[in-house]
Amino acid sequence: MEKVNLKEKIRIIPDFPQPGILFKDVTPLLKDAKAFAYAIDQMASKCSSLEFDLIVGPEARGFVIGAPLAYRLGVGFVPVRKKGKLPAATIQGEYKLEYGFDVLEIHQDAIQPGQKVLVVDDLLATGGTIGATVRLVEKAQGIVSAVVCLIELTYLPGRQNLKEYEVISVIQY
Ligand code: PRP
Repeated sequence: MEKVNLKEKIRIIPDFPQPGILFKDVTPLLKDAKAFAYAIDQMASKCSSLEFDLIVGPEARGFVIGAPLAYRLGVGFVPVRKKGKLPAATIQGEYKLEYGFDVLEIHQDAIQPGQKVLVVDDLLATGGTIGATVRLVEKAQGIVSAVVCLIELTYLPGRQNLKEYEVISVIQY
């Protein structure tokens, strides 16, 4: 596949959602068919030596990246959602936000004990979201093979907060 400069397709928005934050906006990458396909292929090739049965991704952008990656790798996709969105019985886990806490959920029967899982999201910042997703996978007795992100903010402690896991990213800031 033709190489694409993925960083050129990520738009930096200053002071969103708060003053001082340089928000990495992936929407220009997603709407560019070649860049989107290239990004998913790059993620897939970095997973080629791993063993996994499923991809688990948190809402909302974890779905946009996780679902095509699951299709590309030939495995199923399991959504992790904010509280109250999943219809069947769930396992819940709290996670820390900038101010306060939120709750993520996974369906109780989404993972069979011992299944190997890739946890996938668009972006790794502090690791709060992925950390909570990893804990849900483990509560469901799944085994996390690796954490896979399109973008990693290396100036934040995401990788450090996930140091028991292999962390894979395609674009680093
Ligand atoms: C963003 C991003 C990651 C998370 C990364 O999601 O898509 O999921 O933040 O930050 P962290 O590593 O510090 O947890 P957001 O919370 O904006 O939710 P959304 O995708 O539903 O908009």
